[in-house]
Amino acid sequence: MKERIELLSKELNDFSSNLLDEIEAKRISWIGKKGAITNLFEEFREVSPEEKRLLGKALNELKNQAEGKIKELKEQAGQLSVSAASEKLDLTRPALSHLKATRHPVSQVIGRITDIFRRVGFSLSVGPEIEDDWHNFSALNFPEEHPARDMQDTFFVSMDPAKALRTHTSSVQVRAMETQGLPIRTLSPGRVFRNEAISSRSHCIFHQVEGLYIDKGVSFADMKQTLLYFAQELFGAEVKIRLRPSYFPFTEPSAEMDVWWGLESESDYRITKGTGWLEILGCGMVDPQVLENNGIDSKEYSGYAFGIGIERIAMNLFGVSDLRWFFENDMRFLRQFK
Ligand code: DAH
Repeated sequence: MKERIELLSKELNDFSSNLLDEIEAKRISWIGKKGAITNLFEEFREVSPEEKRLLGKALNELKNQAEGKIKELKEQAGQLSVSAASEKLDLTRPALSHLKATRHPVSQVIGRITDIFRRVGFSLSVGPEIEDDWHNFSALNFPEEHPARDMQDTFFVSMDPAKALRTHTSSVQVRAMETQGLPIRTLSPGRVFRNEAISSRSHCIFHQVEGLYIDKGVSFADMKQTLLYFAQELFGAEVKIRLRPSYFPFTEPSAEMDVWWGLESESDYRITKGTGWLEILGCGMVDPQVLENNGIDSKEYSGYAFGIGIERIAMNLFGVSDLRWFFENDMRFLRQFK
């Protein structure tokens, strides 16, 4: 038994490997259930007490040596395999940061506006982006020869029957009057299209939010109060508004609303064209003819409507100087709007 212990001890000392499979095979052959050292322990039970005293220590040492050796070799091999794999997988590289999606700035502004009007009872309505002449023009009192009906201004999809990309969300007013019972108090956000040259201040695609309120006894003062509330909620309680007389075929009287932007910096001059006022929407009392066009008795009912330009507001709320950024889908731009 003594010789076998010495032989195994030598084998242990000589053995070396950096392959985990090989090391494991050796472990089994030494200290596995039927391993050589395990067997020695079996035999050891049978030997005389004298031999036990002599060999016990050596046998225990052999076992410890084997366990130590296996452990050491396995650790080395483990590290080696990690560094071999790391030629492809560099564990020291910084982790990729977790990218969270953000809402598009135009959607954020639309969300804020619809929230504000929801609180005073406006519902949401949607209409199609490809519209017929009736909903986009005729029902809204656009005369036959109105320049907006010109190919130069409108993207036609087909000529007979005339279908075009809607030029404004006012078309949804008509659809609301057709389908919703009175009173109507609804908001319609959406994309609109005009055949315009693309520049830092205008684009052939942009967004509007349309508002329509029709009931008995609705007045211009109601409209003004609602629009003031809206401006205060969006820009802050200190905001000042002004209504300037204007013209739209579907409202009478018509107005445009400005908010006071200020005239302190050079960019204030540029943004407000030197007036300090920023135009954000068109509005007016729904023309009685438009009510009649849609089967609403204009002697009993009156209403107001407004159309808010979204990109203009988004540019100013977020300090974006070029409208085209909203349509580029450049992640470096979009990620800034957390
Ligand atoms: N549709 C108009 C435009 O695109 C905006 C507008 C003006 C909408 C007055 C309205 C309104 O509802 O009453 O320029």
